[in-house]
Amino acid sequence: MKKERLMTPGPTQVPEGSLLTLARQATHHRTPQFEALFEKTRRAMADILRTEGDVFFMTGSGTASMETALMNIVAPNETVLVLSSGKFSERWAEMGEVFGAKVVTLTVPWGEPFRGDQVADLLRAHPETVAVFGTLTETSTGVCHPIAELGRAVRENSDALFVVDGISGIGADRFEMDAWSVDLAVVGSQKALMGISGAGFVAVAPRAWGKIEKTPRRGFYFDLLKYRKSAESLTTPFTPAKSILESLAFNLDAITGEGIEKIWQRTALLAEAARAGIDAIGLKRTTASPADSMTAVFFPEEGAFDPKRFMSEMYGRFGVKFAAGQGEWKGKIFRMAHFGLIDEFDIMGTLGAMELALCAAGFPVEPGRGVAAAQQIFLRGN
Ligand SMILES: Cc1ncc(COP(=O)(O)O)c(C=O)c1O
Repeated sequence: MKKERLMTPGPTQVPEGSLLTLARQATHHRTPQFEALFEKTRRAMADILRTEGDVFFMTGSGTASMETALMNIVAPNETVLVLSSGKFSERWAEMGEVFGAKVVTLTVPWGEPFRGDQVADLLRAHPETVAVFGTLTETSTGVCHPIAELGRAVRENSDALFVVDGISGIGADRFEMDAWSVDLAVVGSQKALMGISGAGFVAVAPRAWGKIEKTPRRGFYFDLLKYRKSAESLTTPFTPAKSILESLAFNLDAITGEGIEKIWQRTALLAEAARAGIDAIGLKRTTASPADSMTAVFFPEEGAFDPKRFMSEMYGRFGVKFAAGQGEWKGKIFRMAHFGLIDEFDIMGTLGAMELALCAAGFPVEPGRGVAAAQQIFLRGN
């Protein structure tokens, strides 16, 4: 039997206490117990997101929450600005097209972050823009975008709403929805929240409701006005993925118990150790603006190196599952997470396994270099 070591930036390992809730008998969702669960998880998420706004539990994977955010604020032929820097942020543009928006795209090369002045210039050139769509952590490249700076640029140069996909970043990379002028934020269940896949949250700042109310309804299930109405009675408009929410409640208790500030610091240390180890091994990381939630790494370019062998050695021999590259970086990179249940032990163990797998795949490294570099970071601490 093989021990699975899920190191992907989602889905991630789920805490045992959370899994055990899934074994309980089904109960109905139109009950006082569900109302209590609804309110408790809503409050916890508002705390994690640092918002005074509304937070809605959405059934459907992260993309469903993205779609909810977009279709509730964009009418046909309205202009939206998409900050496109990888596979996931490209999705905002694809979605905008499907909903009939005029999509203006600001693109940076993969691996680079956006700057506020780039956004400001484009908003001044397109004063008709109703919404700007950004991403906290671009999971396909490992970049963490400077959302505070981008939020300031949006607010100071337009009346547009600022929407942030924080599906993989929120709960691991610092994110302060209200202070950073974010009007809608989207989170997924299966990333730093350590939940089962298939659900998410959409957070809405008070400033966004005017536009939501004015936008023609273009879908039934994801209509935020329905979610707001039902939330007044502490429930969802349709049958929710209640077991996912029940198991998430366990994780949210743990997250708010530890405190999001402390989790950001702990994650930053794990990330620093992972980066130090990877650098010491002699691999090249994809970005100079890395997320703390994850690290993306180029495969060595040496002719003899076999990336497939490396990945199969990691998974087949050590049970370590990494995510592969996507889009233009397919076959070129691997990606590992350092959020949720992942701890110091996982980082050191993964680096040790990587050293052996790299040797087996044709990239000789001196065993122990990466592990030692990570240990130095842990010795020093935060
Ligand atoms: C930044 C980002 N956005 C969107 C998604 C899509 O989420 P889902 O696959 O849950 O629909 C992901 C998933 O990896 C992601 O990392």
